Amino acid sequence: MYKHKYHIMPPKGWLNDPNGSCYYKGLYHIFFQYSKDDVNGGLKTWGHYTSKNLVDFEFKGEAVFPDSEWDKDGAYSGTAFIDGNTLELFYTGNVKHPGNYDYINEGRGHNVLFLQSEDGMHFNNKTCLLTNADYPDNMSCHVRDPKIFYENGLYYILLGARTRDSKAAFLLYESADRKKWTLNKSYISDNDFGYMWECPDFFELNGHKVLSFCPQGLESSLDRFANVYQSGYIMKDLNKLDIVNRNCDELKSEIKLEDFVEWDLGFDFYAPQTFKGEDGNIYLIGWAGVPDAPYGNAASIAEGWQHSMTLVRRLSLKNNKIYQEPVIGDIQDKFEDIKVTKLENNESLVKTNLYANIEIEADKDLSVEFNKDLKISYNSEAKELLMEYFNDTGDGRDKRKAWLDSLENLSIFMDGCILEVYANSGEAVMTTRYYPLKKEINIKIINEKNVCARAYKEN
Ligand code: FRU
Repeated sequence: MYKHKYHIMPPKGWLNDPNGSCYYKGLYHIFFQYSKDDVNGGLKTWGHYTSKNLVDFEFKGEAVFPDSEWDKDGAYSGTAFIDGNTLELFYTGNVKHPGNYDYINEGRGHNVLFLQSEDGMHFNNKTCLLTNADYPDNMSCHVRDPKIFYENGLYYILLGARTRDSKAAFLLYESADRKKWTLNKSYISDNDFGYMWECPDFFELNGHKVLSFCPQGLESSLDRFANVYQSGYIMKDLNKLDIVNRNCDELKSEIKLEDFVEWDLGFDFYAPQTFKGEDGNIYLIGWAGVPDAPYGNAASIAEGWQHSMTLVRRLSLKNNKIYQEPVIGDIQDKFEDIKVTKLENNESLVKTNLYANIEIEADKDLSVEFNKDLKISYNSEAKELLMEYFNDTGDGRDKRKAWLDSLENLSIFMDGCILEVYANSGEAVMTTRYYPLKKEINIKIINEKNVCARAYKEN
């Protein structure tokens, strides 16, 4: 009952980070961290989906296997690079040496591995490019998640890292041929930026440089960094945040906690990746989950699967902020008008694969209630968008908050047990899990100006 119709999910078992997202030979490829036989996440392979339009996805099975001495304990996260006809993958091979180790400073190998493919389906020539011995001596064994990119005649690999004394760091390697790599810089963050950065990403958006990463160890509060681990970005002009050419001291004054913007302010979001579309736009997809969360997914686990991806979001720049618009919002023929049964008290009966676009009058409050379970509300005086559960349909999720100077519209995509809320056409996004007890729910909207409620078409 909780399976998705238009979000990427594992057919069975466990899913986490998106990997190797790219457009290659006429198809989009989204790979992902996959444990098909372990709903709680065991040995990781890469699962594989392809798509022509970033809306309809086809499952292609597994593409990368932990079948070598360099990745025997997991084919961890990584990214793709397209060289003419060839699709190349750069990822982390996880190795746990048997013994009595802490697996942080001792006992673990994190290797950068390479694979290539001519058809986007079969990958070969597995090669090990970097091992722990290539990382600076002050790094722990946690050095992973290569992001590959090209700039001015050279190739770069950006890695997230943790130092031996538990400071978050990144390493940047450079190469002329993508085979032999040398260290360009080792950047160690200030103490207030956590103990580890996972899944770094680096890209340009409308004349700005964007560094995206997932810090672990930030101080949390309901107002900021409410989840156990965070995922966000820092954006600066092109001449700043130039991680290739600027030195670590210059970068220190640009990579500041106060400039770190969270991608998604819901309960379930982590490890996003960006990629360039056929149309030149930058798209983002994230894992609709977070590691080590203090809340759960018992109801989907009971169905034999856990976690999924967010919708693919098109990034754009408005008012010096990155907006995230869901690609499926463009494809209206995927949805049909819902047979809404209006009940007393403004309540409507809808199905769990809902898409509702709600417009409101400027400077007004809004409230959207799902049964007596969950409420999404905007308070125009406090300038807060709140997501609150009133019972266990959130499986331990309680309250999350986003800040918005005003609210003009709210789009809600609900698909089985995932709910993505986009405020002001992607100015703020909140992703969560919601496990209603029945397929049909009452939705009560108060203060709307205009509502367009639609359901995803059954095939
Ligand atoms: C982030 C992460 C990555 C790692 C992968 C393993 O969720 O921990 O750092 O490569 O998951 O599945």
